[in-house]
Amino acid sequence: MESIPSTYTAVVLPDYHPNTIRAMLSLKSEQKEIRELKDDEVLIKMAAAPVNPSDIAFMQGGYNISKTTPVVPGFEGAGRVVAAGKSHKAEQLLKKKVSCFAQEDVDGTWAEYFITKEKNCIPLAEDMPWEQAACFAVNPFTAYGLFEEARIAKSTAIIQNAAGSQVGNFIRKLAAKSKVDVINIVRKESTLKSLQEEGAKYVLNSSEEDFEEKLREMSTLLNANVAFDAVAGEMTGTLYNSMPPGGRVVVYGGLSGNAVSQVDVLQVIFKNKILKGFNLNDYILNTGRQHFQEISDEIQRMFIGRELKTEIQAGFPLEKIVDALKLYLGNMSKGKVLLKPGN
Ligand SMILES: NC(=O)c1ccc[n+]([C@@H]2O[C@H](COP(=O)([O-])OP(=O)(O)OC[C@H]3O[C@@H](n4cnc5c(N)ncnc54)[C@H](OP(=O)(O)O)[C@@H]3O)[C@@H](O)[C@H]2O)c1
Repeated sequence: MESIPSTYTAVVLPDYHPNTIRAMLSLKSEQKEIRELKDDEVLIKMAAAPVNPSDIAFMQGGYNISKTTPVVPGFEGAGRVVAAGKSHKAEQLLKKKVSCFAQEDVDGTWAEYFITKEKNCIPLAEDMPWEQAACFAVNPFTAYGLFEEARIAKSTAIIQNAAGSQVGNFIRKLAAKSKVDVINIVRKESTLKSLQEEGAKYVLNSSEEDFEEKLREMSTLLNANVAFDAVAGEMTGTLYNSMPPGGRVVVYGGLSGNAVSQVDVLQVIFKNKILKGFNLNDYILNTGRQHFQEISDEIQRMFIGRELKTEIQAGFPLEKIVDALKLYLGNMSKGKVLLKPGN
């Protein structure tokens, strides 16, 4: 049995700060004590944990989850279970490789060790690479859940913004498998070029003057009836107004930091369109544990078979958290930045 130290290193956020730079610079790496496990909890020795947009919003106090500060950030990651509480389900996870996540008011994953409930762990096959495992619990399931909207709407074409993101990347793969066209919206020329180099057929730059006109033309031509919106703000209105009658916009992120706006009232009244939200938690709850396990196995096979892959741009030790965040914020479309304890 692996020996467990009494203390461990963790990144600590002293308090929320609406300014991203200040929140980032306030982070420290500190020693924390490992506490006793409750019956339904496990102790995970972390291998890697990513920085996600939700972590940035969380540090700013702008996410729908707020925890008691000081707190260790990080909503997901991967590692090996090295100790378990007394419940049968917790004990079953002992020594297993897991992806893990937690949204409760507890310390997060940016640490050498992470304590969470057994139900927040997804057991993984041993041949799942650690870096891919670290980013497995959130984005792949989000893309899968979102794409079900397109299946239900029998889409032959969809629209997505923040298309250089990892969720965007997965949606493109799922769409290609189902022969669904994707209109990809990005905000930088460099991202547009790299998506085109990867083979994406339809890519628009929202920073160009004629963007709205091109989007309307393209979505009408392809009959794009579902749009996945990670940006919100005025972009939601632009998507909504540009879609053919009967279209639906699914908002799943608020990257612009702005309220949904510019929805044309005539489109609402006369064009039978739908504006709705999506979040992974509700999707998992509605899916049920058994079906979620089946989806998890299916997605895991796609990762192990290299059909799906999270792009990783770099890994940093916990002590270099500020460098890690600077790199990520400087070019989010280049891939995930991981925190790798022990590196
Ligand atoms: N609802 C849910 O349950 C759920 C679950 C998971 C993820 N999400 C959301 O999914 C989205 C993508 O997450 P991810 O982890 O895949 O992201 P990611 O790989 O870390 O990349 C972030 C992407 O967002 C773009 N971006 C950032 N700020 C933007 C803005 N103001 N306007 C337009 N684009 C912007 C970046 O483009 P640049 O390179 O141009 O900066 C980059 O392509 C996020 O909004 C996240 O919160 C939602």
